[in-house]
Amino acid sequence: MKLAIAADHGGFELKEQIKEHLIKRDIEVVDLGTHDCQSVDYPTFGKACGEEVASGRVERGIVCCGTGVGISIAANKVKGIRCALATNVFMAEMAKRHNNANILALGGRVLSPEEAIVMVDAWLDNKFEGGRHQRRVDMLDQI
Ligand code: RB5
Repeated sequence: MKLAIAADHGGFELKEQIKEHLIKRDIEVVDLGTHDCQSVDYPTFGKACGEEVASGRVERGIVCCGTGVGISIAANKVKGIRCALATNVFMAEMAKRHNNANILALGGRVLSPEEAIVMVDAWLDNKFEGGRHQRRVDMLDQI
């Protein structure tokens, strides 16, 4: 699997730790930045990740900012993106099973790296259930 990852300064450290974990899992990671702790604007990075996923160049994305809120809003502005902000393992799992989220948003000032990595694995390892959830996900595209 190929996955894009992006963050602002608030999510930079978490992005680096998640990236290391993904590489250990043999996932090909496209790092869209930011590349240090200097202050940057989360909309730039949420948009970049959204566009990378929407283009089909990567299958999925992960975005991080301080809370995960701003960067998730930015990613969701891109057509075809279903970016889910998760704050616990249950949310991360359900984001895949019910919402077929193609981007997961996480907060670097909310989660420890250990918590975030368990959440990333839950989102990656679960499958979309389809059925009634497919109909609802299809409705999202009509909005
Ligand atoms: C940056 O200070 C912070 O606002 C940003 O990382 C994020 O939390 C926005 O939602």
